[in-house]
Amino acid sequence: MVSYAITGASRGIGFAFAKHLAQDPSNTVFALVRNLTSSQPLTDLASSHKNVHILQGDVTSPTQLSAAAESVSKITGGSLDVLIENAALLLGEASSFKLTDLVGDEEKTKVFGNDLHLNIEGNVMSIIHTTNAFLPLIKKGEIKKILVLSSGLGDSESIVEWEWKDNVPYCASKAALNMLVASYSTTLVEEGIMIVAISPGLVKTLTADWAPQFYEGVTKIFQKSNPSFEGPLSPEDSVSMMLETVGKLTVKDTGKFLSHHGDKEWTCMVKSENKKYVLNLLHFPLSPPRAKTVQVSAPLSSQKYVPKPKAKTKAKPQPSPVQAGHASLRLSNEAEGKPIIFVFIIFFVIILRLQQLRYLQRTETADEFDGR
Ligand SMILES: NC(=O)c1ccc[n+]([C@@H]2O[C@H](COP(=O)([O-])OP(=O)(O)OC[C@H]3O[C@@H](n4cnc5c(N)ncnc54)[C@H](OP(=O)(O)O)[C@@H]3O)[C@@H](O)[C@H]2O)c1
Repeated sequence: MVSYAITGASRGIGFAFAKHLAQDPSNTVFALVRNLTSSQPLTDLASSHKNVHILQGDVTSPTQLSAAAESVSKITGGSLDVLIENAALLLGEASSFKLTDLVGDEEKTKVFGNDLHLNIEGNVMSIIHTTNAFLPLIKKGEIKKILVLSSGLGDSESIVEWEWKDNVPYCASKAALNMLVASYSTTLVEEGIMIVAISPGLVKTLTADWAPQFYEGVTKIFQKSNPSFEGPLSPEDSVSMMLETVGKLTVKDTGKFLSHHGDKEWTCMVKSENKKYVLNLLHFPLSPPRAKTVQVSAPLSSQKYVPKPKAKTKAKPQPSPVQAGHASLRLSNEAEGKPIIFVFIIFFVIILRLQQLRYLQRTETADEFDGR
C-alpha cells in the first residue's frame, strides 16, 4: 500500500494526479483542497473510489495543513509515502505587466507588489507550510518522496531564450521555489528523503474563453526555440510522464529541478526513451539510457525506502538503500555501463577491420610486386 497526499486536487493537474493514482486500489490517495465541496469531479471520484479521501488544506494556512496531516496520520498509522505539492496561484492581477510598464507608474507598481506578495504566499511560503506539516509523516513513510510542481518559467535561462516578458511574479515565485527545494534537499538527504522540483510541461488546464488564444501564443513562443513543439499536453499525459520520471528518481537526484521527462527540456513533447539512442550517447554520462522497468500505473510502489543506521561521522551522502536493494534500480545501474562497453566494442571492430585492410593491401602490393 502506497499513500499519496496531493495539494490543489480540486482541478487541473492536481485532480489528474488524484484520478490517476486512485486507479490502483492498493494506493491511498489524500486529495487536499481549499474548499471541500467546490469540485464535483473530485467528489465523484471519492464516491466511486474508496481509496480517495478529500481533506481541507489551504496551502497558505499552516493550521489547516497540520489538521490535514493529522487526519492522514490517523488513517495511515502515522506515515505518508509521497507528498505532491501541486497547488499554486498561476495568474494574478499583474500577470500582464512587463517590468518596464512600472517605470513612473506608482499605481501599477503597487498592484505588482501586491501580486508578487500573493505569489510568494501561495507558491513559496506554501511549500514551507506544506512540507513542514507533512515532514514527520514522510520521515515515517517507506518511499520518502516529495514532488514540488515548478515551471519552466522558473528557469532564468529559458526566460531569456523565450524572451518571456510577463507573469513576472509567478516566474519569480517558481524560481524561488526551485531554490527552496534545493535548500530542503541538503538536510532531508540525511534522512533518505528525496525532494525534487518538477515542471509538468505546458498543460491545458485553463478553461477561460481566452484560453485557446493563450495556448496558441505560448506554443508559438516555444516553437521559436523548439520547432517540434506541438502545443499543450493534457493533464493526464503530463501526470503519466511526471510519475514515470519520478518513479525512476532516487535519493541521489534530490534537490534537482527537472522537466516532466526528467531533463531540462521544458518544452519537449517526446518521452526521453523514445529519443534516438545516439542522443542518449551524446548526453552520457548525465542521462544514461534508462531501464524500462518502472510501470506508469504504480510508479513509486516498487521503490520503498529502507532506513539505514545513522553514520556517526558526517560522511558524503551515500546512495540510498533504495538504489542497492531493488531489481528495477539495479537494472538502471547496470544500464549505465552499457554505452561504454558498446563504444569499446565498436572501437575494437574498427581497429580489427583497419588491421585486416592494411594486411590485404600489403598482400596485394606484394602480389603486384611479385607479378612484375
Ligand atoms: N498548466 C500548466 O501549463 C503549468 C505549467 C507549468 C507549471 N504548472 C504548475 O502545475 C501546478 C498545477 O497547475 P494547474 O495548471 O493544474 O493549475 P490550476 O488549474 O490553476 O489549478 C490550481 C490548483 O491549485 C489550487 N490552489 C490554488 N491556491 C490554493 C491554495 N491557497 N490552497 C489550496 N489550493 C490552492 C486550486 O484550487 P481552487 O480550485 O480552490 O482554486 C487548484 O486546485 C501548479 O503548481 C503550476 O504552477 C502548470
